Amino acid sequence: RIAGLINNDTPLDEWPGELFTVEQNIQLTDRLLGNPVQPGDALGRTLALGRETMFGEIETSQLRGRGGAGFNTAWKWRFCYDGPEAAVCPPGQPAAGIERYVVCNADEGEPGTFKDRVLLQSSADQVFEGMTVCAHLVGAKRGFLYLRGEYLYLYDRLEAVLAARRQRGLLGKAILGKEGFDFDIEIRLGAGAYICGEESALIESLEGNRGIPRNRPPYPVTHGYLGQPTVVNNVETFFAAAAIAVHGGEWFAAVGTEKSKGTKLLSICGDCARPGIYEYPFGVTVARILEDCGAADVLGVQIGGPSGTFLSDKEFDRKLAYEDLATGGSFIVFDRTRDVIEIARNFTHFFAHESCGFCTPCRVGTPLLKNLLDKIAAGHGATGDLAELSRLGRFVRSASHCGLGQTAANPILSTLERYPEIYQARLKTIDFEPGFDLDGALA
Ligand code: NAI
Ligand code: SF4
Repeated sequence: RIAGLINNDTPLDEWPGELFTVEQNIQLTDRLLGNPVQPGDALGRTLALGRETMFGEIETSQLRGRGGAGFNTAWKWRFCYDGPEAAVCPPGQPAAGIERYVVCNADEGEPGTFKDRVLLQSSADQVFEGMTVCAHLVGAKRGFLYLRGEYLYLYDRLEAVLAARRQRGLLGKAILGKEGFDFDIEIRLGAGAYICGEESALIESLEGNRGIPRNRPPYPVTHGYLGQPTVVNNVETFFAAAAIAVHGGEWFAAVGTEKSKGTKLLSICGDCARPGIYEYPFGVTVARILEDCGAADVLGVQIGGPSGTFLSDKEFDRKLAYEDLATGGSFIVFDRTRDVIEIARNFTHFFAHESCGFCTPCRVGTPLLKNLLDKIAAGHGATGDLAELSRLGRFVRSASHCGLGQTAANPILSTLERYPEIYQARLKTIDFEPGFDLDGALA
């Protein structure tokens, strides 16, 4: 175990590459990372048990989407498989020719999140296995891995894994000799747009269009790629599904909390001695994680990336679980040398830059938030600016078209709520000479 070797700040050209192994860089637990799935094992068990029994295993596991939102995976796959045929036809198009698709969202763009790139580097076979199990259950013949453009360096390695799987009869026609079980996976590269991690923008991008989020509903499970039923799941979800297919739903659900079963991979970085990828059962407290990663004198923690929540040191007894703190896996530690307003400013600049520009509240609102915060951070804020910051933030949150705009004000609103005195102290004040007649001067 060599914690501290990886960090989301690690430049790609310094990435350990071939030397990288799970054992060296990931804190092992006896759940997912400690029980890797061998190629073909999950598929073999899926074929042996049959579709309905394997659906039952996924249901029993109560696996929820690991991208952050936590939608029940068995339901999603079931909706795709069962979806009423009439609902899957784009308006005006005939019902014939329905194809189902499986998409792995590897557009890991949330600042502070780097667990998926580690999974793809060290356990791609298991991720592809999970996608293929899903394809069998929902009846899909084509799948896509939508790879973040910045992860280009993984492309050849992933293609090699896919080629090896085709060679072994784990992809392609008649998988593991099962007549009619045909499925293959194509890698598509993103081009650096954060918004393409939003599933419907991702699908637009897959179709060759500009990555703009669609209206949802309808959800991709009924109207996805080319208007067809499409499962979109995160890398970690497919990775976990393969383990569930081998070890069973009860094995997976044996740890965690009532509504959050299993374990979660966290990308831990920032002001701590041992950054890296950690696997925890759901329900772990923030305090425990801080202790494990060697964080001291902590000011706060950003959970779930910029779109998530900023926790102050009074909230470290809170738990990582969908009942309390939901997260896609990002855990950024800030010690007391950090400036809260600078943290919020950095994230706000990020959102203003990444806004896709489709809807006005976000396109116009995020730069306004950025400019106002820049003014306050520079010590030029007036008394009314804090109220305006809060009002504008709440407006952008409620009026924006997609999750990016709806969460873009979170860094501001959550720090403003927790540290009003820090913002107050940064406002511009004027010291007048004793006895100066301000009212008279203004009159
Ligand atoms: P969402 O709650 O709208 O949907 C979650 C999933 O469930 C989607 O796949 C959606 O299609 C499906 N779904 C929801 N309701 C459904 C229904 N009634 N029928 C069928 N399917 C349904 O959440 P969203 O907007 O897709 O994702 C937001 C999350 O993504 C946030 O938690 C955020 O933290 C996280 N995120 C993760 C990033 C990362 O790099 N991993 C980057 C940015 C955000
Ligand atoms: Fe684009 Fe922002 Fe509107 Fe989302 S909220 S559609 S990112 S402009």
